[in-house]
Amino acid sequence: MTLLVPDRATMAEVRAGMTGRVAVVMTMGALHEGHRALMRDARKRAEHLIVTVFVNPLQFGPTEDFDRYPRTLDADLAICRAEGVDAVFAPTREDMYPTGQTSIKGAKVTVNPGPVGDILEGAFRPGFFGGVLTVVAKLLNVTRPDVTCFGEKDYQQLAMVRAMAADLSFPVEVVGVETVREADGLAKSSRNVYLSAAERAAAPGIHAAMQSGASLAGKGATAADVRAHVIAELPGGIDLDYVEVTSPDLGPAPESGPARLLFAGRLGATRLIDNIPLTVEAK
Ligand code: PAF
Repeated sequence: MTLLVPDRATMAEVRAGMTGRVAVVMTMGALHEGHRALMRDARKRAEHLIVTVFVNPLQFGPTEDFDRYPRTLDADLAICRAEGVDAVFAPTREDMYPTGQTSIKGAKVTVNPGPVGDILEGAFRPGFFGGVLTVVAKLLNVTRPDVTCFGEKDYQQLAMVRAMAADLSFPVEVVGVETVREADGLAKSSRNVYLSAAERAAAPGIHAAMQSGASLAGKGATAADVRAHVIAELPGGIDLDYVEVTSPDLGPAPESGPARLLFAGRLGATRLIDNIPLTVEAK
């Protein structure tokens, strides 16, 4: 049976009744196959599975899509039931932020994401990682999991949650789960519903360009060559925020060895991100 848990006080009671290992998957709802993959992975790692559904105002900028972000709690609950989730924690904003915070700027005590919070996504979405890490810290405190699974789709988020857990001594194991894609390669995302038919048709070109760049890396291309190739191969109509090659932990690109290729840009009004692993070889 899947319990719908509407507030922190009830969550504390439900959590107290759980014996054995507890896993948590944190979401903003609008659940899709990518979230289901997180739930299935988490399910294998613990006796109990909690899914959190909360559209967190602190991680949205003033011009971002907080108001129009898809809210589909009934459909989300059906998915959680089908995945054997024990409890769905879906608090109100007032319950999560009882002193009234509605943005990272207006909040008082928050988690400082450090320098990695200012690069890549952080450079284009000021305050984003402060908002994400603050709510992740709160949700960890409320649900007290042994293990929590995050998608590699939000690669920088996963890296920052890992770093927060390590640096602030949260007693939780953070697990990364591979990105789930549509058959044509587009990474699953709750924001894909915003795409028009023409944008949806163009969107798989992002992953295709990234794969094409990554395959060059195996043939002696440098990180800079890969980056230039991906930018040239991207479908038309993309308003690019960045294409970057970094080390797996988001440092400078290595001259050789494992690396990460990351993309962010807008197709029409919809901002999309993606990333894949690659291996660069010294020339
Ligand atoms: O990845 C998300 O959906 C959100 O950033 C998270 C981790 C649920 C925090 O609001």
